[in-house]
Amino acid sequence: MSVEQLPLPEGSSGWPLVGEALAFGANPFGFIGDRVARHGAVTRSRLLDKDLAILAGPDAAAAFIDEANVMRAGGLPPHAAALFGAGVVNQIDAEAHRRRKLHLMRALDAHALTHYLPEIRSRIRARLARWVAAREIGLQDECIRLTLELTLANFASIAPDSDAELDRWARGYQDFGKALFGLPLPLPGTPLARARAFTQDALATFGRIADARRTTPNGDAASRLAASEVDGERLTSADIARELQHLQFAAAGMWGWFGHGAKALADDAALAGRLRAVAAALPDDPSPRDLLQAGELVDFVREVKRLALVIPMTAVGIAKRDFAVAGRRVPQGWLVLWATLASHGTPGIAPYTAPERFDPGRYARGEGAAAHHFAPQGPGEALTGHRCGGVEYSTLVLLQFFTELLRAPVLSLPAQDLTQDMSGIPARWRGGLRVRFD
Ligand code: HEM
Repeated sequence: MSVEQLPLPEGSSGWPLVGEALAFGANPFGFIGDRVARHGAVTRSRLLDKDLAILAGPDAAAAFIDEANVMRAGGLPPHAAALFGAGVVNQIDAEAHRRRKLHLMRALDAHALTHYLPEIRSRIRARLARWVAAREIGLQDECIRLTLELTLANFASIAPDSDAELDRWARGYQDFGKALFGLPLPLPGTPLARARAFTQDALATFGRIADARRTTPNGDAASRLAASEVDGERLTSADIARELQHLQFAAAGMWGWFGHGAKALADDAALAGRLRAVAAALPDDPSPRDLLQAGELVDFVREVKRLALVIPMTAVGIAKRDFAVAGRRVPQGWLVLWATLASHGTPGIAPYTAPERFDPGRYARGEGAAAHHFAPQGPGEALTGHRCGGVEYSTLVLLQFFTELLRAPVLSLPAQDLTQDMSGIPARWRGGLRVRFD
């Protein structure tokens, strides 16, 4: 049967004008997870006036990353595209994307990561020392601050001098995320209006930094982007500012992984005990290589990335032509996304044994190794495709974070509400994820 003869995916279109945009925006994890559980590898939905195909699982991932099937330009609604700005890596295709990604990966390659690691380590240690001294803290807010502290330092050498200033950045990226998923109404006081004002300020700051790094580079991501040349092309300071704003936003969710992993350690004393031995056996100041070879700790980080409620989907693209997924036709012009979380955790679709169980041992048994089985930061290749550019950076940050946490006094969770509010990205622990160090 030719693609044109295949039936459309099953699913629903929601209400006139809004489609299912309100339900999607209110809980994207739940919305996508529910559709994948009900319909499998491909589901039809509708966001405002656009049909949407939600893809899931490894075979659908292969169809999604085929540039003949899906392009990124035009995938985001205009208000969301404008927030990122024209020409940013997540909205371009083909040659222009390949060049831009090569520039970006110069700020995230092995040399850059080796340069960033000492700063990552010393900032994690300083914050952790304060947590241990306080004995009991709200880990969620602290990890939101820590994430920004690390990425602002590594990418732009910005060192906010107070938690209040870090909180201001955090609110900015939270509004940015809400605005992407919300309705395009920039009324005063809405997340979109606040995100626009915040972005204007941030772009001005990053633009000044990019200018300064052209004459006095210091090894941060801004310096590496200012020095980068690909096929004779250099980035302007405005390009660099927009890419730094995108990088900061993309990285801002790492706190969700810190929290998920810390909770997993508190929940499983035997696992924590084994991992404490791994952390103790590492050199005091491990190199990237030491960390990446830390056996069970690496598998622990993989399992955290697989299951945490950090991001439910890839960026949204557009079908360039009719193509087939699981015997259904995704028509040209439909919006298309691949479900990251549901592809890893939904029984029947996720290629894992008991996929909902937190079990780092599964990787030693060979799970996750086949193509697109493990792609919590998007399927495909970082250099030639749209896979997250921060996979190695975030892995290194997580390995260093958990190494330090496992060397600290034992962590436990006092009685609290441990449910998660899934209206934001990442999902938030309603009780703030309070932890004790004893
Ligand atoms: C919270 C942790 C993170 C998660 C869950 C995550 C996940 C993702 C996902 C799902 C995508 C879209 C992939 C696609 O559309 O096919 C993406 C893109 C991207 N991420 Fe991440 N990411 C994280 C952290 C980071 C960090 C730390 C950085 C930078 C250091 C980063 C940089 C990027 C970039 C540059 C892209 C755009 C790639 C492109 O369009 O070519 N991300 N990420």
